[in-house]
Amino acid sequence: MGVSSAEDEIALGHGDVRVADPEAMSVRLETERLVLRLPQLSGGEPGDRAAAIEHVERWIARWERNGVGQFVVLLDGRPIGRVGLLVWDARTWQTSTYAAAGEHAETELGWALTSRHWGHGYATEAARGVRAWAYAERRVERLISLIDPENARSTRVAEKLGAWPDERIETALGPAVVWVHPRDPTSDRTSNR
Ligand SMILES: CC(C)(COP(=O)(O)OP(=O)(O)OC[C@H]1O[C@@H](n2cnc3c(N)ncnc32)[C@H](O)[C@@H]1OP(=O)(O)O)[C@@H](O)C(=O)NCCC(=O)NCCS
Repeated sequence: MGVSSAEDEIALGHGDVRVADPEAMSVRLETERLVLRLPQLSGGEPGDRAAAIEHVERWIARWERNGVGQFVVLLDGRPIGRVGLLVWDARTWQTSTYAAAGEHAETELGWALTSRHWGHGYATEAARGVRAWAYAERRVERLISLIDPENARSTRVAEKLGAWPDERIETALGPAVVWVHPRDPTSDRTSNR
């Protein structure tokens, strides 16, 4: 994976107010088959236009607050979904910010692709790229994925990424298993597919 961002590390000690500097907002990652970039209001993101604008505005605000967020996944230059980071407060299992959640902050690595692009290993490949970037460039202490135990496809992605299941929790969206991601890429010997 190539990382072509500015030297834009943000110290993410708990309790920090994390205001992303403008250069941090230009991060762009490349994996074998995919390009991952920040959402843009003019970016032709998938889906209904009004809903897309609302989503994108929320995603950009999260990047600005936390220095991390969702990437748009591009295949041959076209958006096929999103993979990236979301901050939760483990006291309530509601989405939050690093500043508000403090030492209770958990950083989730999540994925969603348009259905016609499922089954090619793209989610796994993109998530592996984001995970490496988050641990190396954003100094995230621990990455988790919250997965509905009924979601076999997503669970399989977590397994392929070398994550392991920990506790079961309740979020506003229902039950979820907390999958914990390895920090050491050498301990993750699974392939993209
Ligand atoms: C989850 C999601 C991102 C996976 O994307 P993807 O690109 O198909 O993922 P991958 O191709 O990397 O891996 C999917 C794996 O699930 C497996 N799979 C597919 N259907 C399955 C099923 N019914 N039961 C078990 N495994 C299944 C595939 O075989 C593949 O594993 P393999 O490589 O060992 O064969 C995609 O299905 C999606 O966007 N779903 C809707 C949003 C969502 O649920 N997001 C996750 C929220 S926690």
